[in-house]
Amino acid sequence: MTLVVLVGLPASGKSKWAGEQRLPVLSSDEMRRIITGDITNQTVNSLVFRMLRRVLDAMLAAGVERVIVDSTALTRRERRTWIRWAELNGCGVEAVFFDTPREVCEKRNRERERVVPADAMERLFNRFEPPRLEEGFDRLTIIAAPATTTERG
Ligand SMILES: Nc1ncnc2c1ncn2[C@@H]1O[C@H](COP(=O)(O)OP(=O)(O)OP(=O)(O)O)[C@@H](O)[C@H]1O
Ligand SMILES: [Mg+2]
Repeated sequence: MTLVVLVGLPASGKSKWAGEQRLPVLSSDEMRRIITGDITNQTVNSLVFRMLRRVLDAMLAAGVERVIVDSTALTRRERRTWIRWAELNGCGVEAVFFDTPREVCEKRNRERERVVPADAMERLFNRFEPPRLEEGFDRLTIIAAPATTTERG
């Protein structure tokens, strides 16, 4: 199995892209909704990510070949949990980075139904560490309209 780990600020386009691929999608927002009924609930993060890893265990057992992991994954530490899971389970791990300009994310965010507060956007932007192949990914794809580039490890 290979994990396709999405990386990007809120409203950078991760979930829209994920929905266009013909692959199963594991989403942290969806897991928040399953556990608490509220996709914006940020008080259960460690449970959410623990459950996502358990679902990955089940997908691996079920023979799934490729799965998209849809969360912001903005820091090396957050991405490390997926890379470690892949290493421990003999799986591949790729990153897809939505390199959407901050202003575009902020505009799309303001115009959508689920608006992330401006101060939270600011905090996330300041915390953001761009993903690098050297973190342990087999492949890094950068989606920066109009061009998409791929590096292989
Ligand atoms: N390539 C695109 N061109 C134009 N609009 C887009 C594009 N990708 C996404 N959008 C729009 O931007 C908004 C946010 O997109 P999306 O939900 O995919 O973001 P996200 O990265 O999943 O955000 P979050 O981390 O908050 O879940 C949506 O209204 C979506 O329709
Ligand atoms: Mg999303």
